[in-house]
Formats: sequence, C-alpha cells, structure tokens
Amino acid sequence: MKIAILSDIHANFEALQVVANNLEIWRPDIVFVAGDIINRGPFPNQCLQFILENKKEWKLVIGNHEEYVIAQAIPEYLKSREQKVLYQDSNWTYNQIGKNIEPIKNLPFLLDNDFHNRGMIRVTHASMLGTRGGIFPELSDEQIKERIGKPPAVFCVGHTHRPMIRRIDDTLIINAGSVGLPFDGNQQACYAKLTYNHNQWHGKIERCDYDVQSTLQGFFSTGYIDNGGPLVRIMLRELKQARSHLYQWTAIYKKDIVQGKISFENAVKEYIKVNNLDDITF
Ligand SMILES: [Fe+2]
Repeated sequence: MKIAILSDIHANFEALQVVANNLEIWRPDIVFVAGDIINRGPFPNQCLQFILENKKEWKLVIGNHEEYVIAQAIPEYLKSREQKVLYQDSNWTYNQIGKNIEPIKNLPFLLDNDFHNRGMIRVTHASMLGTRGGIFPELSDEQIKERIGKPPAVFCVGHTHRPMIRRIDDTLIINAGSVGLPFDGNQQACYAKLTYNHNQWHGKIERCDYDVQSTLQGFFSTGYIDNGGPLVRIMLRELKQARSHLYQWTAIYKKDIVQGKISFENAVKEYIKVNNLDDITF
C-alpha cells in the first residue's frame, strides 16, 4: 500500500504541479493534504481549483492559513484595525478565491484512517494541540508524545515546513515538510511517501525541482506584492531563501505595532534591513 502526504502548498502552483506529476508516476493509493493549501503565496485560487476539481479523491484537512482566510469572511473580524492590518495578505487571498471559500470552511481538523487493519494513520495539520502546535525536529520524544495524543501507528503532519521522520515507541511520526514553501534551506518542493511492507509502515521524504523563479515572479504578476500588504515582501524572501522569517518578525514587532510604537510598514523595512535581506535579487 502506498500513501502520499502533501502539506503546506501555500499557493505555490508551480510546486504543486510538479508534485502532482510525480504522483502520477508513483501512483499512490491515497493522497492526503495536511492543510495550508492557500495563503502566503501568489496562486491560491489555481491551487484550490486544481485540487477541488482535478483531484477530488485527495483527502484534505484544515491548516491555520485556511483559518486565517476563512476569518476574513467574518464582518466583526474585519472591524478590528489590528486584524485588518496584520492579515492584509489573508484578505488578498480571500478576495482571490471567491466562492471556493465554501468547501474549505468544512475541512476537518484531523482524519483517522485504518486501512485493512494495518494500524491507525492520523493526519492533522500541526498536532493534537491545534493547527499551530507544530512538531519540530528539535523537540524531544517526550514533547512529541504530548502532541500526538493516543498513539496511532502513523502520525502525519506538516505546519513547520521542515520535514522529519522519527519512530517513537510504536508510532511512526512523519512531518511532510512543505510542498510550496520549505524552511529547511532547500528550495525544492517537499512531500512524504508512506509505504507498508514487512508488516510495518515506512516513511520517506521526497524532494523535487521546480521553477522557483516562476513562483517568485508570480508575487509581482498577480499583484500580491502590491496589494497583499507589507508582509508579502518578507514572504517573498522566505521563498527565495527557503527559511522562515515571518515567525521571527511577528515575535519582534507585533506587540509594538498594536501599541502604535512602530508602523507596520517601518517594522517590515527595519526587519529587512537588520537581517540584510535588502540585497536579495530576483
Ligand atoms: Fe504552513
């Protein structure tokens, strides 16, 4: 039996296409998508449309970025100045996907699957703590155990954008990394393969080359960089460097922005300057 786990596509249609083409050759029995199909990238509607129309058999769970975009449909949410400013990128995505917001509103938090008594395979976006409590490679076995709940045979996640395979007691933990926005320093699209042989599940991380430059260009051609708010300039650099910046930026500046100590625009400019991200050329 063969299972593919894709996660964190992040509106990167180029990367999604390459992975989907790979799967046409590998021919898995089931494909899981562990959330964050949209947002933080330039082609949310193309990615959603492709999965909803061409890959109806793929099984999806919700990610925190779907939640950010869904929240844009709530009028009270939009009234908050803080949310309006900090989630401008999610608002851009919300406007791009139009009626495709409806199917993602009903995505489940987790999927439990028992294929022919080969043990439970659980798929969720980050962990049992929620859509933001990630399983990072540097966590100890004990810390990971707290995040997987009642131990299944296989626990599959994404969210951290950093691939990982680890066996803890009788559970195989798979973090599938990120199809469209890896943070492990490797720009290649990333996903995981799960196979069953010799009475055991085995995990493998796959990497594929794709046209990163084309996705970078997409930030400009779609208007995302101009209309998605200042943070999109940082997202562009995350894609280029294959490393995370938004998390660090938020930790440093969010409180000060909310308290009016620095403008949103200046907080982004300062972060780019301090971290020498200015000289990145496209
Ligand atoms: Fe993500």
